[in-house]
Amino acid sequence: MAELFNQYRIGIIGGGQLGRMMVLAAKYMGYRATILDPTLDCPAVQVADEHIVGDYDDPKAIKHLTECSDVLTYEFENVDAAVLAPYEDRLPQGTKALIVAQDRINEKNFFEDLNIPIAPWAEIHCGGCLNANLTEIGYPCVLKTARGGYDGKGQVVLKSDEDKAAALELINDYDGTLVLEGWVPFVKEISVVISRNKRGACSIQPVAENIHKNNILHLTIAPARVAQNVQDEAKKLATQIVEGLDYAGTLAIEMFLKEDGSLVINEMAPRPHNSGHFSIEGTQNSQFDTHVRGIMNLAMPEVVANGQSVMLNLLGDELAQAQVRSIDEPTWHVHDYGKAEAKPGRKMGHLTIVTNDVEKTLEKLGEF
Ligand SMILES: Nc1ncnc2c1ncn2[C@@H]1O[C@H](COP(=O)(O)OP(=O)(O)O)[C@@H](O)[C@H]1O
Ligand SMILES: [Mg+2]
Repeated sequence: MAELFNQYRIGIIGGGQLGRMMVLAAKYMGYRATILDPTLDCPAVQVADEHIVGDYDDPKAIKHLTECSDVLTYEFENVDAAVLAPYEDRLPQGTKALIVAQDRINEKNFFEDLNIPIAPWAEIHCGGCLNANLTEIGYPCVLKTARGGYDGKGQVVLKSDEDKAAALELINDYDGTLVLEGWVPFVKEISVVISRNKRGACSIQPVAENIHKNNILHLTIAPARVAQNVQDEAKKLATQIVEGLDYAGTLAIEMFLKEDGSLVINEMAPRPHNSGHFSIEGTQNSQFDTHVRGIMNLAMPEVVANGQSVMLNLLGDELAQAQVRSIDEPTWHVHDYGKAEAKPGRKMGHLTIVTNDVEKTLEKLGEF
């Protein structure tokens, strides 16, 4: 057991808000944190011990990071797994999770191997391929680039033949394989944030209910307002996924809930997730706390909610608005990621309210 506590330096690839909140959780446990990120004064660097200025995929910079760290972690899934492979023994999240999560085709094959329910899908390489598979999958459906998409970018929804032109344009513009996915008629989108250590113990956050605006997460309500058996099933699927990856740390899974109560898995992210931010105040062990516990192979707690939580993302100048409004709101927890410039649509912070009346809280937030 003692050797666990000799590992006290954490190296984090990526210096955004997820890295920042990881550092804050690591610091109160006494760990030191070094950030690898090309940007000076990025969100995580403001709270970390050291900063290595460099690219995530630069083997020299990664080597430098490993020299100052006992344990490595990443805060986003688009790191080059090949660059990290030599340091696998110091990367509890592992490179398999990266390889699976950064490519929708790998991800779908991985889910299918585990018998996890997903939408019907097909690989798309060219326009002819699209036509052939449209017959099979049918409208509505969605075409997605296999790699690099986020917040709905790199996607075209097809409702009828009229949308084919936009789909063909995406195929022509994108240098790589795409996937065509059948549209899932969901009644709700939910997510499960789960953390695991290498000894196989898990902590699972309350299931979150997510509302998107312009394909960007807008609001999370947790625990999700769905039946207990749905929550249990969602947690079971999440556990199967982390076991399948022999994962350590925090991982999030986005799911669709259908009218008949069944679940379809959308995608996963091998890192803390925006839909788990509520857990900082909303549970007794945040997703960042359980991430650090997981990667450091510490004991994993049973996560207990402090009430119901409402988490609102603050994009662009909404952060400043929330800060002004919060002057008279003692129960509002406004998080400011410390980003220099409030560009429209940019995630600048979030707001969490722990409540015993979700409806009333939502009403109050109505103006955002
Ligand atoms: N097959 C689908 N059926 C229904 N809705 C979908 C489907 N795929 C994507 N969406 C909608 O688009 C959003 C973004 O898609 P997602 O695959 O999660 O991409 P991203 O990587 O951009 O988050 C989802 O949260 C969901 O609202
Ligand atoms: Mg998504």
